[in-house]
Amino acid sequence: MAGPTPPGVRVKLWDGPVRLVHWALVGLIAFSWWAAEDHLNWHRWSGYTIIGLVLFRIWWGFAGGEAARFASFVKGPRAIGAYLKTVGRREAATTPGHNPLGALSVVAILLTLVVQVTTGLFAVDVDAFEAGPLSDRVSFELGRRIAGWHELSFRVLQGLVALHVLAIAYYAVWKRTNLLGPMITGRRALPSDPGLAGAPWWRLLLGVALAGAAAWFLSKGLRL
Ligand code: HEM
Ligand code: HEM
Repeated sequence: MAGPTPPGVRVKLWDGPVRLVHWALVGLIAFSWWAAEDHLNWHRWSGYTIIGLVLFRIWWGFAGGEAARFASFVKGPRAIGAYLKTVGRREAATTPGHNPLGALSVVAILLTLVVQVTTGLFAVDVDAFEAGPLSDRVSFELGRRIAGWHELSFRVLQGLVALHVLAIAYYAVWKRTNLLGPMITGRRALPSDPGLAGAPWWRLLLGVALAGAAAWFLSKGLRL
């Protein structure tokens, strides 16, 4: 098939929660980076918000709409291999949601964020003046070592995000597929409507309540 597939219909792809979590993560991770050296108190609060967002996204990956569900986009090696054969072709991508390769990047970013915030909770600063709320559960030496892992994990996160943005640019330039627009508006042009299922409101509310409560409890060092 030559050239990009002509767009057929504009369908609702990314729901509000997916988009809100995405852009809030982008903003808060940038903020956390800025606040990491001399504004550790802001770093801490931004980090707790990120914990809530990541926990909510994991919940939404099981309880959310079809495009947000891990089961709908996390694929095995065979599907990834088959997709890899098409990735260099100069034709528009038409997967309604994350493609099998992009799904790996989504999972890698979310897992790295889990490592990032978990190590942050236990990390101790050099002078032991600033420390995560769970750092009293470990020795000073271990807390310092965990602070090292916290930095290392941030390098990994930076690498993954750079790759993520490059991949989106590659789709825009080479495959003439605009992935960015749908992450902003929620809508994407596809050859036909895949009829993605939504999720009921109560799951959104329950997820926000659970993720918020868990983030708050962690921020208190798991003490009431
Ligand atoms: C995605 C979220 C986060 C990112 C991107 C992030 C990133 C960073 C970075 C880049 C540093 C600087 C390390 C250095 O140069 O010394 C740092 C330090 C630190 N972070 Fe985070 N962090 C995050 C979440 C958290 C959370 C949730 C906590 C918990 C309170 C936390 C606690 C700390 C502490 C205590 C330090 C100082 C450790 C040291 O001085 O070595 N961070 N973080
Ligand atoms: C800290 C920076 C970033 C993080 C942690 C991040 C993380 C993620 C995650 C986890 C997803 C999956 C969405 C979901 O299913 O919930 C995603 C998708 C996406 N992100 Fe980012 N992102 C970052 C920066 C950016 C930037 C700067 C852009 C703009 C170029 C961008 C554009 C997109 C787009 C277009 C998608 C949808 C990709 C697709 O259609 O498969 N992201 N991002």
